[in-house]
Amino acid sequence: MAKKIGYAVVGLGVGRSHAKAAHNSENADLIAVCDLLPEKLEQAKELYPDVLTYTDFTTMLKNPDIDIVSIAVPSGDHAKLAVEALEAGKNILVEKPIDITVEAAMKIEEARVRTGKIAGVVHQNRNNANMKPIREAIGKGEFGNIYYGDFEVKWHRSQKYYDDGGWRGTWKMDGGGSLMNQAVHTVDIMQWLMGDIESITSLIGIYAHRIDTEDFTASLIKFKSGSAATFVSTTNAFPGLNTGVKLYGTKGSIECDGDTILLWKREGAPEDEEETMKANYSGNSAAAALDPTLCTGHTSMVEDIISAVKDGREPQIMPLEAVKSVRIVNAVYESAKTGKTVYFD
Ligand SMILES: NC(=O)c1ccc[n+]([C@@H]2O[C@H](COP(=O)([O-])OP(=O)(O)OC[C@H]3O[C@@H](n4cnc5c(N)ncnc54)[C@H](O)[C@@H]3O)[C@@H](O)[C@H]2O)c1
Repeated sequence: MAKKIGYAVVGLGVGRSHAKAAHNSENADLIAVCDLLPEKLEQAKELYPDVLTYTDFTTMLKNPDIDIVSIAVPSGDHAKLAVEALEAGKNILVEKPIDITVEAAMKIEEARVRTGKIAGVVHQNRNNANMKPIREAIGKGEFGNIYYGDFEVKWHRSQKYYDDGGWRGTWKMDGGGSLMNQAVHTVDIMQWLMGDIESITSLIGIYAHRIDTEDFTASLIKFKSGSAATFVSTTNAFPGLNTGVKLYGTKGSIECDGDTILLWKREGAPEDEEETMKANYSGNSAAAALDPTLCTGHTSMVEDIISAVKDGREPQIMPLEAVKSVRIVNAVYESAKTGKTVYFD
């Protein structure tokens, strides 16, 4: 039997989902976990008695049995740890956002090219059940020209959520607030569905939390195609409302809440098409708007990096693809801070 891929995880917050997926994978062994906090390591040891535990990342990287490291530490440290892992000869899967600045994210890309190792990034919402048929249908022009998209991430996070860990809601380590942390998934979906951006005009604010960054953003976006979008993000929407992905074309409209199709209306479509789409291509991740621990979907990303390494192929989401949402988020902040429209190259 072929040797299983050796998997390690650094950062045991959401990193616990990576560890679970690697442990459950037929093609991988969860070999090691690393966290600065001994109690997190003890919890991991209870779940996975054979796992090696480390408080020092550099020491863990010396273990020759590790093929892949999931990087799930606070966002502002992603590039630092990712580059170190690549230089140590490991393949990596980096949590979203790839890092909080384009410059830092590009260091991961440069290290990937330099080392020839495989680097993937987690944007698991692309694998939601509704996304593939939506992308295919709009790509084939079945909804005509998508002239307008309306995106809203109306979630709720408590003050305790920001206080725990101390890094969330800081410019230095979170790189932003509701947009960089929570809504970056939907920013990724927006650019993936609607294409390259021409300009962004935004405002941001802090309304319900003691944080440095923002808990509300609103943006007007123009695409190079000539289409437009509006994008709102907040962590103030008690008790956690919705993740709106709404696309309006010249021949029809699609409205979703996260991975759930609410409306699928297409001129000339068979009568039962909407019901079929709702029944066959909807999921249930809207619950994550209420509770961050309910975020699912990591299994698909962990399985993807494992099979990419096993088969020597590219992973689903490469660093250059993940940089796009970081560039967009930072353009929103720049526009809000300067009061000017930000134009893309
Ligand atoms: N894909 C998703 O849906 C999703 C969901 C939540 C978080 N995230 C991302 O995952 C990352 C972590 O977020 P979180 O909410 O799990 O944070 P967290 O604070 O809950 O957990 C981070 C852990 O990393 C540890 N850590 C920090 N620096 C370390 C280091 N140098 N070496 C070892 N351990 C270190 C901390 O002790 C902590 O246990 C962030 O980038 C966040 O954006 C993604």
